[in-house]
Amino acid sequence: MMWYRQNAWEATSDAVSKTWLAVDEDLHREEAESPVAFQKAEAPTLRMSSGQIFITFPIRVGAQVAAVKSEILRQLKRVTADNGTLSVQSEVHRAEELVTFNMAKLNLGKPAVAGMSITSKLTIQMRVPQQEGVRPSVSFVKQGALTDDELSVFSAALRAANKVISPADTTPAAAPPPPVMRDLLGDDLGAGILGFVRHMEEVRDAFSEIREAWAEVGAEWEHMHDRPGEPDSPTYGNRRTGEQAGDAQGFPAERRRPRLMPGQQRRQPLQGPPEREEEKFEYGSQEADQAAQQLQSLGTMVYPPGNKAAIDWGILAGYADQKQQIEDTMLLALLHPEVYETIAKGTRRHFANNKARAVLFEGPPGTGKTTSARVIASQASVPLVYVPLEAVASKWYGESERLLSEVFKAAEMLPGCIIFLDEVDSLATSRNSEMHEATRRLLGVLLRHLDGFETNKRSVVIAATNRKEDLDPALLSRFNTSVQFGLPDESCRAEILHQYAKHLTDQEVASVAAASPGMAGRDLKDLSEQAERRWASKIIRKVVEPDQLPPVAEYIAAANQRVKEREAKQRRTQLPFAML
Ligand SMILES: Nc1ncnc2c1ncn2[C@@H]1O[C@H](COP(=O)(O)OP(=O)(O)OP(=O)(O)O)[C@@H](O)[C@H]1O
Ligand SMILES: [Mg+2]
Repeated sequence: MMWYRQNAWEATSDAVSKTWLAVDEDLHREEAESPVAFQKAEAPTLRMSSGQIFITFPIRVGAQVAAVKSEILRQLKRVTADNGTLSVQSEVHRAEELVTFNMAKLNLGKPAVAGMSITSKLTIQMRVPQQEGVRPSVSFVKQGALTDDELSVFSAALRAANKVISPADTTPAAAPPPPVMRDLLGDDLGAGILGFVRHMEEVRDAFSEIREAWAEVGAEWEHMHDRPGEPDSPTYGNRRTGEQAGDAQGFPAERRRPRLMPGQQRRQPLQGPPEREEEKFEYGSQEADQAAQQLQSLGTMVYPPGNKAAIDWGILAGYADQKQQIEDTMLLALLHPEVYETIAKGTRRHFANNKARAVLFEGPPGTGKTTSARVIASQASVPLVYVPLEAVASKWYGESERLLSEVFKAAEMLPGCIIFLDEVDSLATSRNSEMHEATRRLLGVLLRHLDGFETNKRSVVIAATNRKEDLDPALLSRFNTSVQFGLPDESCRAEILHQYAKHLTDQEVASVAAASPGMAGRDLKDLSEQAERRWASKIIRKVVEPDQLPPVAEYIAAANQRVKEREAKQRRTQLPFAML
């Protein structure tokens, strides 16, 4: 082992210094003719820790962090194209962004030293400090020597890290871009323009990353337009347990109408007068399109107003009280704002809005909060602006307040919309707990916008949380109404199960409902999918006849297994059942 490490170390330092000499020589040649003085490029450093070799080099002043990042990505894609895998993660901590590229490749590349056993995994870490004066750097981390392929990635990354774009600039390339106006109005207009260009490039890069990430989420959401669900971001689903939200199991083609609760009368679906909608709603106008585009570039998702028939309350079984409450406080006001205005004009000495403008949806994970927002958006014929706060706040590190303001401003350019702030607890932790300064400022912005939110339009803010108790009291007081999505009781569970196992009889469904205490709608959907998967594998293995649908026993077995797993988790974590 020691022999192996010693050899790997020697081979790596040899390969790294050869690569560096070549890169340095090229840099000398390219920069010798330039009239501008370049800051000296620095050689990579090597260290060994826990059996891994770290090769680290800084990104030179004037070089572009975004260019280094995309060069590494391009190179890794090239070398993994035929027989490897690649993943990229980006995290923002308080003072720095850490981008981690993980590459795994079948061991086909030639080692830099013949005969040496090499592992096929390479990690590249890019550290981008968010404060001025601290230099960004790149580290290649490998257990063993680099293969030829990996060495070629290293060489390209090293070149990109030393390729100076704006030599006149003396601020580190990765420092947060200075405000554009200060750059432009500064003494040195040339440096200002370069700064501006760099700033725009970084902004464009950040937006394209956000767009890529959300494109996947958007696809999922689109996919679920026919199927109930939600746009699962990596943080979506149950954030506490890391459980993913339900996967894309098909929605029963034939939907059951929601059953009536005892004493409840079937309500007529809400009808909005179409001519009025035509006249007032100009979604699709140039201004609205621009606003929607801007919202998307800010990392939010905009779902165009759907066809009313597309999604209705039928996708959410049970929860009659919540549906009624939502219709009364929000949906009717979005559909018939003039009725509310007439009342307010008649009752108030000074006219003031009487429509709900901010509503809180609270309840354990998987109980239908996001699904309800989708129904509202579809039924009210307004677009839904989905703001996954936790994800966007970390993307916007350092600039979150300004960007959150922009989201609200752009949303107000729409003729009407629902702003859905998901996971609002991620930025609005109670003042008692230690609140990060940035979070506090962001909360301030949110409070201001909730106060000033344009209400004479068909717009409403909905915030969703699993942890109402952690919300700041000032934020809580801004909500006109709070809709509680509790866990379903046994009869409601049966209604939900009818959605996902329509072939079972009422009695069979009741027995599955009895076997699934404390489960949310998402759990019931998941257990039904599990039963279907188990049944499919039995068909494929020819254990059962192919033309049979899963019998009730499969559902009960899946429910029992889930209960058992949850109990074990509960014992370990001591959390209330619903929060697991
Ligand atoms: N009452 C229900 N009837 C049918 N399906 C349901 C019901 N409740 C939840 N589901 C299904 O469970 C999944 C999760 O629901 P949803 O995303 O609305 O939960 P949520 O309350 O927003 O959860 P979270 O707090 O984790 O964001 C969806 O696929 C949804 O269709
Ligand atoms: Mg949700």
